[in-house]
Amino acid sequence: MKQLSVAIDGPAGAGKSTVARQVAKQLGLIYVDTGAMYRAITWKALTHGVDLTHEETVTQMAQRTDIRLSTDIKGSDVWVDGTTVTEEIRSPEVTAHVSTIAGQSKVREVLVDKQREMGRKGGVVMDGRDIGTHVLPDAEVKVFLTASIEERARRRYQEMIRRGYEVDLEELKEEIGLRDEKDKNREHSPLRPAEDAIHLDTTGLSIDDVISRILHLCRTNLGGEE
Ligand code: CDP
Ligand code: CDP
Repeated sequence: MKQLSVAIDGPAGAGKSTVARQVAKQLGLIYVDTGAMYRAITWKALTHGVDLTHEETVTQMAQRTDIRLSTDIKGSDVWVDGTTVTEEIRSPEVTAHVSTIAGQSKVREVLVDKQREMGRKGGVVMDGRDIGTHVLPDAEVKVFLTASIEERARRRYQEMIRRGYEVDLEELKEEIGLRDEKDKNREHSPLRPAEDAIHLDTTGLSIDDVISRILHLCRTNLGGEE
């Protein structure tokens, strides 16, 4: 059977990583969380006191950084230069700064090369902002996931509380809205749906509903190829 490539893009809190991981698991594909890579570089820059606005320095640092993502069933562990940073890269501080780094074209080139290498043979579910438009433009299945900002903020709020952070729902909503605006309006590979992406508004849909709709798209595609 053909090795499928699945691109899942959309704004923060749309459910991309949750559903992408499950879709990968059910189809026996590798899951690649590209947002974790931008977060990993942001974490390293903050930890080493690197000026995040200095593109040349951040790019050189990115070139020298060994980022590993677990592609196993849990699929959420991240290592930077051999150190586990799974929790650290999801901190509010990293979240507040990640769009700055993600706006830099040279840094993006370094990470996109790594992502394309991971997706070279297919057999991958990759989620992010520019997967269908730029990283894997030939992906057989492209999904653009959205949900209302209220719903996305509520989801992220519950997740942060579960992980032990004290957060304010209104502040979180504002932070997500600002990050979305930056991601949509940046010059290089902005957040936007690919022309051939299927749009899926997940407001009011359960995680299982979304997974089964994407699995259906994947199976239809595989069936059509046989
Ligand atoms: O999980 P959440 O949606 O909050 O964010 P993420 O997927 O971990 O991505 C964090 C940030 O990385 C995004 O807000 C984008 O600025 C950037 N990003 C990107 O520019 N391109 C990607 N393919 C993935 C993430
Ligand atoms: O990756 P992205 O930022 O798009 O979203 P996520 O991290 O997968 O999902 C954010 C939170 O929303 C997680 O805690 C999910 O469990 C939850 N979620 C949900 O409640 N309903 C959905 N349909 C999808 C995700």
